[in-house]
Amino acid sequence: PNRQQDRTRYDEAGAAERIEARVAADAEWGFGNVPDTDPDLPGNRRWGRDIADRMATSTLGNQLIESALIGDAAALDGVIDRGVAAAGGWQSRGAEERARILHRAGELLEARRGELLEVMGSECGKTLDQGDPEVSEAIDFAHYYAMLGVQLDRVDGATPRRRRLVAVIPPWNFPLAIPAGGVFAGLASGASVIIKPASTAVRIAALLVETLWDAGVPRKVLQFVRCTDRKVASALVADPRVDRLILTGAYETAVNFRELRRDLPILAETSGKNAIIVTPSADLDLAVKDVVASAFGHAGQKCSAASLVVLVGPVARSRRFRGQLLDAVRSLKVGTPEHLGTQMGPIITAPSGKLLRGLTTLGEGESWLVEPASLTVDSPLALDAQGGNKVWSPGVRDGVRRGSEYHLTEYFGPILGIMTAENLDEAIDIVNETDYGLTSGLHSLDPDELGVWLNRIQAGNLYVNRGITGAIVRRQPFGGWKKSAIGTGTKAGGPNYLHGLVDWDDAPVSD
Ligand code: ALA
Repeated sequence: PNRQQDRTRYDEAGAAERIEARVAADAEWGFGNVPDTDPDLPGNRRWGRDIADRMATSTLGNQLIESALIGDAAALDGVIDRGVAAAGGWQSRGAEERARILHRAGELLEARRGELLEVMGSECGKTLDQGDPEVSEAIDFAHYYAMLGVQLDRVDGATPRRRRLVAVIPPWNFPLAIPAGGVFAGLASGASVIIKPASTAVRIAALLVETLWDAGVPRKVLQFVRCTDRKVASALVADPRVDRLILTGAYETAVNFRELRRDLPILAETSGKNAIIVTPSADLDLAVKDVVASAFGHAGQKCSAASLVVLVGPVARSRRFRGQLLDAVRSLKVGTPEHLGTQMGPIITAPSGKLLRGLTTLGEGESWLVEPASLTVDSPLALDAQGGNKVWSPGVRDGVRRGSEYHLTEYFGPILGIMTAENLDEAIDIVNETDYGLTSGLHSLDPDELGVWLNRIQAGNLYVNRGITGAIVRRQPFGGWKKSAIGTGTKAGGPNYLHGLVDWDDAPVSD
């Protein structure tokens, strides 16, 4: 049940036909590179255009939605009580019945694809080409974890004792897929779940929760706490009735939560400072395409995004890679997601602090290959709640030095840094020098280089000759190393993920 397999280019008989069919379907539905200036193109008259129009007139663009959905800070105690009380009934329904409900939720998400895309675009600035695979990922989580929940009950030689209550605290950058992963995992394991979404991604999380209720998950088994107050998240985590925390967010946030409850098992995926190494044996055209997509997809606001490209030997010295990169980045169409041709959308809120510094200030020896700029766009989706401008063009800085601030800092925005190395070993040293280890990429057509890189690189998710974002459920289980992960979790979207959510009389067999 992995829908995204259809969306992947891999070497198998029939792959070409599938890709052709997908591209044709994307054009039909209004995705892909459909310019938004020609109203006669089929894609513009159909579904995609319709979603884009609704985004443009949405009131969600720059204001926090008022949701009547359940719980607020004052009600937290009651929310936790209800979750604990409801867990027994949910567990006694059995894994097969729970799986049926979760599969149904996956089907309902598919039926609501258009609405989900509209809300992700208007609330979080997701372009349709980024939001569409995200809906697919959420659906993959539904079906995959439903299946794992049934398998969990059948593990030989170990009887899982269910947890009562799982808290899910997701980020705003994958505002549907990451909340869906946490919620589906918790429910499939037999626990009650409380989700506290990010304050800038409330409406989309509410839509996810409503969809699960509609599929048959009882309202007390899955509860939604809408809050902007940090104290509420802390109060939720600190409460001893919460048995597990599934968190995706900054490393510092995870550390703070761990300090609050040393006894609470945490499954956390945290920060990243990810790089793609390009060696002289690489297909440079492919490397440029993958670097650009990995650095600037969703304006670089992915823990998995490429923040660095490390050029090796002759690639570092020649103008070719830089020239092609310059052209590719300059030609990106930047704007707001209600325009179907937008390839890079806005930043979640007008940049400040570290990100603003990254967009405006060069370190010693650095120069702009492409200088980022704040762009004026006439759209409500370009402004944040305070009226700040969220649309920035992408930036590429050349000459990033080893040990510099840019080399070692996560910025979470549309900036890429170029570093150089004499050989592959030095390039690997540069990448491993960061505190993080989330995603890492190699562009090389030399098997010996691949072997060296695989042996030495320190990251949880490794990609060869493809972009380094967009892990696919079941195919590419996702998790970090070093400061990119905290806690007891195995990889999300992988076969052992639910094991981390239950107590075991015997340790489960792990593969
Ligand atoms: N799972 C997300 C990705 O792979 C973070 O890009």
